[in-house]
Amino acid sequence: MSKDQYIIALDQGTTSSRSIVFDHNGHVVAVAQKEFRQIYPKPGWVEHDPMEIWSSQSATAAEAISRADLTTDCIAGVGVTNQRETTIVWDKDSGRPVYNAIVWQDRRTADYCLKLKEEGLEPMVTEKTGLRLDPYFSGTKVRWILENVSGARAKAEAGKLLFGTVDSWLIWQLTGRKVHVTDVTNASRTLFYNLEKDDWDDDLLKLFNVPRCMLPEIRSSSEVYGEVQKNLYPGGASISGIAGDQHAALFGQACFSPGMAKNTYGTGCFLLMNMGDKPVRSKNNLLTTVAWRIGGKTEYALEGSVFIGGAVVQWIRDEVQLVRTAQELDWLASTVKDAGGLFLVPAFAGLGAPHWDPYARGAALGITRGTNRAHICRAALESIAFQSADLLSAMEKDSGLKLKELRVDGGACRSDPLLQFQADLLRTSVVRPKCIETTALGAAYLAGLAVGFWESRDAITERWEMQQEFKPERCDEEMAQLRKGWDKALERAKNWEE
Ligand code: G3P
Repeated sequence: MSKDQYIIALDQGTTSSRSIVFDHNGHVVAVAQKEFRQIYPKPGWVEHDPMEIWSSQSATAAEAISRADLTTDCIAGVGVTNQRETTIVWDKDSGRPVYNAIVWQDRRTADYCLKLKEEGLEPMVTEKTGLRLDPYFSGTKVRWILENVSGARAKAEAGKLLFGTVDSWLIWQLTGRKVHVTDVTNASRTLFYNLEKDDWDDDLLKLFNVPRCMLPEIRSSSEVYGEVQKNLYPGGASISGIAGDQHAALFGQACFSPGMAKNTYGTGCFLLMNMGDKPVRSKNNLLTTVAWRIGGKTEYALEGSVFIGGAVVQWIRDEVQLVRTAQELDWLASTVKDAGGLFLVPAFAGLGAPHWDPYARGAALGITRGTNRAHICRAALESIAFQSADLLSAMEKDSGLKLKELRVDGGACRSDPLLQFQADLLRTSVVRPKCIETTALGAAYLAGLAVGFWESRDAITERWEMQQEFKPERCDEEMAQLRKGWDKALERAKNWEE
């Protein structure tokens, strides 16, 4: 492969679309990013405009290529990675979505999930999918669209509508409406995918009343799926990697051996541990998910998903307007030695793993007259670390493994006070790599492996470099005391909206 070739990763996230051009060393050559609208039609509902997802994503791809001073014939492969579970249903002929994208954070199907749970269906669903009956996943969102959008069900049954997670939607657009696929990692987040059968599950489709003809074809995470249409990339480029963003980050962090784990501090926090070539069932309320499939071999992961991670920083900045920037929050948080007894539980979209309470809501407990701005900022950062520590405790119980180090990435991992507190809480090393764009990097690696741009995983492992390690500094008793306080606050936030 010529040295003048590059891989572009399209990283379609919850709050922004990003595109990154990588060179053969796995170094970032150019980045372009565009935020798009968050639509909140009712409390607990979160939507995106699918056309805006597409236009912002394609605009950043063009911008990144031009910033890198490249033409599209220098692109050896395109990797796609995406916010997972977010659900889009569109008309095959007109290409128009029939409804906005229902975002993974959206809670509108909570009552329906509760009803299915009360009917005793959760163990069956978990057995088949590795997931939970929670509004987080795509299945109940697709059903909601078919039930609530006028004419949608009839059209879906007549084979006129397509469903896809964001990867499918983007690839359908990129290929000029020719290719309707998803990869196995995204499929494994829908509630329609059977882990053992490695296929869509007819019983589940029947349960959610979703016609199979709407679903994309399930493919591996690293192969050529199609070509980008010529009017977008005149030089031609193969789309050759797809993975849900958290799976891509696990790959980009080179967590290739069982027991290796990463935590991504994005909008939410997503902790994934590689479990090797057998799906491990959680006894501690985590999810069993596909890590990736490459060359016919599927590997699995255990996942803990926290719905509000870095988003708590945005909330303090944009809604409460306590600070102007994330850096200011960081600085304020480091001016105090602790949160002064304040615990902030950012259950703004309910609680994910390991609590799974769609009715929980945010809470601040332990406020005194001495509580100030800095304490609130500190409590916000600490809340991200507490939630991640709960995930790791569950994961260590499930896997029987004690983590040697936690690799971290995502925007909020720039915060030193956050990572230091995380190491103190976990009692283990927290390691930040030089490249924290590991989601995009992972998608680039998956795309590059498929077209021979990189030969093997060893080449990827060699490229992973540490930037800083955070080791536990505070004593066990102090941290155990803080975790007790957190647990107490958490209990108060649960089951608020029911
Ligand atoms: O499961 C949701 C997750 O994929 C969203 O990730 O990075 O957009 O917060 P992010």
